[in-house]
Amino acid sequence: MSACGFHVIATCRIKSEAEILALKNELFPENDNIDILPVDVSSYESCSSLINKVTQKYGVISVLINNAGITADSSFKKMSLDQWQSVVSCNLDSMFNMSKLVFSPMCVQGWGRIINISSINAQKGQFGQANYAASKAGILGFTKSLAAEGASSGVTVNSVSPGYIATRMVMKLPDDIKEYIVSGIPVGRFGRPDEIAHTIKFIVDENSGFLTGSNIAVNGGQHMF
Ligand SMILES: NC(=O)c1ccc[n+]([C@@H]2O[C@H](COP(=O)([O-])OP(=O)(O)OC[C@H]3O[C@@H](n4cnc5c(N)ncnc54)[C@H](OP(=O)(O)O)[C@@H]3O)[C@@H](O)[C@H]2O)c1
Repeated sequence: MSACGFHVIATCRIKSEAEILALKNELFPENDNIDILPVDVSSYESCSSLINKVTQKYGVISVLINNAGITADSSFKKMSLDQWQSVVSCNLDSMFNMSKLVFSPMCVQGWGRIINISSINAQKGQFGQANYAASKAGILGFTKSLAAEGASSGVTVNSVSPGYIATRMVMKLPDDIKEYIVSGIPVGRFGRPDEIAHTIKFIVDENSGFLTGSNIAVNGGQHMF
C-alpha cells in the first residue's frame, strides 16, 4: 500500500514504544510512509483512541483493512467459553469496532475501501475451528451488508478469503500437519503473504469501484465454490 502512494498505519497488539520502534526498524527500515501503532481491535475504546490519533494527524481514512485475527483451536466438545469469546471478539467484534469509526467519514468523503480478511474455513468449515470458522463466516455477511450501505457513497466493502498462507499463524503448526495441509492444496504449496497483498491492491485500485460486496478466494484451488 505504501508503494501505491498511501500513508500506511500498520497496527499490532499493545506494546511498549521501544518494542514498536524495534518492529518498525525490523520491518520497514527507512520508510517514512509507514507508522506502526498499537491497538486492541477487540476493544471499541482502544480502536476509538487509535482512529482519533490517526485522523487528527492525517484526516479521513480512505482504506481500512481489517486483518487482525487469532485462532484458539479445539474440538467443540473441549472448547472453552474463553476460546469461543476471545476468537469471536478479536476476529468479528473488531469488524464493528474499526468499521464503525471510519465508515461514516468515508461516506461523507465520497470514496473509501474496506477490505475484511476472512478465511477459506469460513465456507469450508474445519475440525477444531468452530469458533474461528463462525467468526470468519460472520465477516462475509457483515461485508455484504456494509457494501449495500456504502455503495451509493463510493465506499466499497469486500472480503478476501485466504487459503493456507505461510505466516506465523500457519508456520507454528506441527510439521506433519503442515505436510498434510500442503498435500490438499492443488497448487502444491502454501500461499505467500505478498499474494494476498496483491489481491488487496487490486481491490483498492481506483478502477475497482464496481467491485463491492464480493469475496475473493485466494487458496491455491483448495476450495472452489
Ligand atoms: N495464515 C493463514 O493461512 C490464514 C488463512 C486464512 C485467513 N487468515 C487470516 O489472515 C489474517 C492475518 O493472519 P496471519 O496469518 O498474518 O496471522 P498472524 O501471523 O498470527 O498475525 C496476526 C496479526 O493480528 C494481530 N492481532 C491479533 N490479535 C490482535 C488484537 N486483539 N488487536 C490487534 N491486533 C491483533 C497480531 O498482532 P501482533 O503482531 O502484535 O501479534 C498480528 O499482527 C487473520 O485474520 C487470519 O485469520 C490467515
